[in-house]
Amino acid sequence: MIKKNIVIVGSGLAALTVADKLSEHAQMNVIILTKSNKQHSNSVRAQGGIAAALENTDNWQAHFTDTIEAGCHINNPYTTQVLVEKGPAYIEKLITQGLSFDTNPDGKLLFGKEGAHLHRRILHAGGDRTGKVIMQFMMNRIENKVAIVEDQAVVDLIVADGHCVGVVACDSNDAHTTYAADNVILATGGCGGLFEVTSNDPTIVGDGIALAYHAGATLADLEFIQFHPTMLQVGGKAYGLVSEAVRGEGATLVNADGTRIMQTVHPLADLAPRDVVAREIHTQMLNGNQIYLDISMIDDFAVKFPTITSFCEKASINIDTGLIPVAPGAHFLMGGVKTNAVGQTSVKGLYAVGEVACTGVHGANRLASNSLLEGIVFGNLVANNIIKKAMQNNIKRQIPKHSPVRVSPIKVPSKQEIKQIMTTFAGIERTHEGLEKAKKWLEQFNVKENLQMHVMNCTKEQMEIIHMLTTAWLVVTSAQARKESRGGHYRKDYPFGDDKIWLNQSIIRSKEEDMAQSHSIAIGGSR
Ligand code: SIN
Repeated sequence: MIKKNIVIVGSGLAALTVADKLSEHAQMNVIILTKSNKQHSNSVRAQGGIAAALENTDNWQAHFTDTIEAGCHINNPYTTQVLVEKGPAYIEKLITQGLSFDTNPDGKLLFGKEGAHLHRRILHAGGDRTGKVIMQFMMNRIENKVAIVEDQAVVDLIVADGHCVGVVACDSNDAHTTYAADNVILATGGCGGLFEVTSNDPTIVGDGIALAYHAGATLADLEFIQFHPTMLQVGGKAYGLVSEAVRGEGATLVNADGTRIMQTVHPLADLAPRDVVAREIHTQMLNGNQIYLDISMIDDFAVKFPTITSFCEKASINIDTGLIPVAPGAHFLMGGVKTNAVGQTSVKGLYAVGEVACTGVHGANRLASNSLLEGIVFGNLVANNIIKKAMQNNIKRQIPKHSPVRVSPIKVPSKQEIKQIMTTFAGIERTHEGLEKAKKWLEQFNVKENLQMHVMNCTKEQMEIIHMLTTAWLVVTSAQARKESRGGHYRKDYPFGDDKIWLNQSIIRSKEEDMAQSHSIAIGGSR
């Protein structure tokens, strides 16, 4: 078999899982391209753990039901079953390979609880350092087997004859490099960085969505963005996430008088679905009320939650007062590049995995701690599929020559301006008027012309802003199209009905469809 070049874009858990599995095969030449450095991913930041039905009295069917309930019944039932049914075996395999999860004094796995789970099924590693521990473990596994090239922002996917055959990347000196590939795997995370307050790494701004769209891939459900209710926020500045596991340990949300705010809002009170909690805190804050997490009942807080304790130290919050000031922030994109259960997109040769992908497992609202699980399960399935396909064909495709197009310098806004617009008009609460304002504002930057210009003429910074504009526009126009409230998408002009009978309809979009609908914003690439 001819050696296969596999380019993975991104360096989070999904990326490393694919790389680890592929690197077991001598015929696979795997390279990871990462935009800044390999420590920058949402996976590294993950505090909450991994949900898996491993406890004796639990089963995948119960995990399935909780996932569908949280997702407001718009999940893809097939891929959701794949996630929760295959999850436990993949976790057990990692444990066999040497990954340690937190245990009780008898050495039995400790299972935590988070919002909307009706069972204790969340595994942690190193307390609230789960992401760091897993990522270090995976980095060690792929060391010396997989090349990781840092400071390589992928600015274009090369598609020839309907097949993705490589990528163009740009570094901080604005030098471009072309990488030929038999398969390209997008593992770039979501788009939390489009908003002013986010739990995401600052590099996560929706590049993968924009790249896939430009390449002609089908996207789905981009209006569904989860806002995490509890970011540590002081004086308008966010210092990091305060994990839901803190509420799982008994912490409650209170106002300045110490009155609990969630008991009258939802039967699950502080552990209600995230959109419900985030909206309540948002409303309280609009009414001028600062909201706190009361952690006074949690013994050994600093031992159980070392990462959060360090955030508090940075923000000069004394945890001995028992109160941590919190505010919601953009956390997770449920939609993304539409894929099947093995990560294939609508463009041949192009895969997507992890948060950038929309397998449909999260529906309209992701269940807590299902995202690391997603990276592990679908990372393995993507790798298996690539290996299987590689056995079946030996075709070597050529990269066509790019013909640079000279255009005048492009006009782009600042990143901060995009974040302000998105936070104000496409955040926790949305209306048609607000979304229309955001759309008009985004369209003045002529996304169409910007994407038609040849990437070789753009700087790394310009391309990142063009990706932000594109993904922001896609989120806004998707949010306009969904005329209902569901999960992470709340339309003030279409509030929830009492009955909550939802049709299982996903909003999908493609460049071709958009071009047909609107010539003024049709995003035409160089192909
Ligand atoms: C958290 O720890 O609250 C976040 C976990 C998650 O989003 O799955």
